[in-house]
Amino acid sequence: MCGIVGYVGDNKSIEVLLGGLRRLEYRGYDSAGVAVIDSEGHIGTRKRAGKLQVLVDDLEDRPLANGATGIGHTRWATHGGPTDRNAHPHLSADGKLALIHNGIIENFAELKQELVESGATFTSETDTEVAALLVGREYESTQDLTEALRRVVARLHGAFTLLVMHEDQPGVVVGARRNSPLVIGLGDGENFLGSDVAAFVEFTRRAVAIGQDQIVTIRPDSVEVIDFGGAPVETEEFDVAWDASASEKGGWSSFMAKEISEEPEAVGNTILGRVHDGLVKLAELDPIGDAALADLDRIVIIACGTAAYAGMLGKYAIEAWARVPVDVELSHEFRYRDPILTERTLVISISQSGETMDTLVAVQHATAAGARVLSVCNTQGATIPRESQAVVYTHAGPEVAVASTKAFVAQVTALYLIGLHLAGVRGTLTDDQIRENVVELQAIPDKIAEVLSVSQAEIGQLAHWMTDTQSVLFLGRNVGYPVALEGALKLKELAYIHAEGFAAGELKHGPIALIEPGQAVIVVVPSPRDPNSLHPKVISNIQEIRARGARVIAIAEKGDAAVLPFADEVIPIPLAGSLFEPLLAVVPLHIFGMELASAKGLDVDQPRNLAKSVTVE
Ligand code: AGP
Repeated sequence: MCGIVGYVGDNKSIEVLLGGLRRLEYRGYDSAGVAVIDSEGHIGTRKRAGKLQVLVDDLEDRPLANGATGIGHTRWATHGGPTDRNAHPHLSADGKLALIHNGIIENFAELKQELVESGATFTSETDTEVAALLVGREYESTQDLTEALRRVVARLHGAFTLLVMHEDQPGVVVGARRNSPLVIGLGDGENFLGSDVAAFVEFTRRAVAIGQDQIVTIRPDSVEVIDFGGAPVETEEFDVAWDASASEKGGWSSFMAKEISEEPEAVGNTILGRVHDGLVKLAELDPIGDAALADLDRIVIIACGTAAYAGMLGKYAIEAWARVPVDVELSHEFRYRDPILTERTLVISISQSGETMDTLVAVQHATAAGARVLSVCNTQGATIPRESQAVVYTHAGPEVAVASTKAFVAQVTALYLIGLHLAGVRGTLTDDQIRENVVELQAIPDKIAEVLSVSQAEIGQLAHWMTDTQSVLFLGRNVGYPVALEGALKLKELAYIHAEGFAAGELKHGPIALIEPGQAVIVVVPSPRDPNSLHPKVISNIQEIRARGARVIAIAEKGDAAVLPFADEVIPIPLAGSLFEPLLAVVPLHIFGMELASAKGLDVDQPRNLAKSVTVE
């Protein structure tokens, strides 16, 4: 869950590294550091606890000699607290080699013991320093940085992306990866390495993804990739689909505000190019094939956090349209319960980053068990899509704020497209029925835009009134239940308020005991127009909690008069089909979480203790 950058080229390493770290800071931000081989051939390093700005200010006060070879790191602490000493880069015993790391070296303790017994001393509590000392020791015998790293990674267990450079080899940076991300940026007379393309997109949009257990050596005019056995590896170049400005704030107060405003485009762009003659055709599913899709007897959706709640909505739609049983499982639970999987099982992983370790290892497990694996992902060239049989990319654009918003609506959109594609392949919906649902989906971007224009100010005012709130409950039923869970998660991770989402029908089975006068409850109210909707039951739930003094905030369809007498506030959303309303009801909850966190003076883009991509299990 760290951000890493490597550079070889012109005498501008510090600018490149800090620019890349700025764009990667959402991956982890409890400390940051850089190392540069200067024009005299010496490694200079600077590393500071705290956010990147602390390092930037320090470098302004005490400049570091620039150079044409450098590595940089922004950290999410795993082994050892966020201190200057534990910040990366870490050095070899002779101080001539610098190394940075993303991941966890699971066998670092025994390797550290071996080093201590051979007389090594340590300056930090990190697993990373163990790798730095080992590579430094191997370099002394190989005098070849690539070979030295190759020998060491063969001994490491766990998840890691490592970048190293050595004073004796200016103009060379070597990287190795297992289970953590690494991509190459191809420049003209310069080359880059990064945790993701944001590291170098301001310099080049030509990229190459590095595969599992591979080592890359970059020089200003060459890039070589081998596997851990030392054999050369074929690579495939791709063009980054967005430019640097897409990952900038662009005048918004926060990335989160910008990304919520992009939710209409996230849905629209994810639909784009996937509807033909009113029907959904996903060529991305060809590697699995229509025959296999028609023959499926079960789908398991695996994901974490917000992505799992998108998966819960996908379940409702896919079961309704494609009539195949769908289970939704948390990735970190899935693998360890020894799931029953066959070649007629389709496992769909959902991941914005495509690097979530819990989901990656679950995908690897599903593949090994013989299931077909399809990924829904928002990051080109990420690890999870590369380990899947097929991938449906969401086109939400880079999502920088740690709290996921536009990616959520794009994930739901992708799952709905998959459901409609499956319905066509399996013949469970007529073409006209598919077209009707496609029209509903295509209307969503404008309806989200309407929610944003009508409700933003009102929700902000409501949030400012609630800054002292200690607890908020969220209720939803059927497709409103995943929305309630997502709203609760946003409040937890942004405003640090205890919040809990419940299925509204569950209230009387225990949670109603939590209701006391003044308890804030946000209720996602289903459409009153749908004869099968649970609208009357949810209105009853609202009456039950109002009778006990709850303060009710209802997210309800415009014109729903039944809710007015029982709610303290009503936030209206446009009319849409029951399966599509969650894409509208979630938007006020995204805004609410952001506004309440802002009202409390909190950092909405980089909440405490979190990172954008959880690349450790
Ligand atoms: C969502 O706001 C959180 N940041 C978190 O729950 C996130 O959705 C989860 O970690 C999954 O991330 P992924 O989509 O990149 O796999």
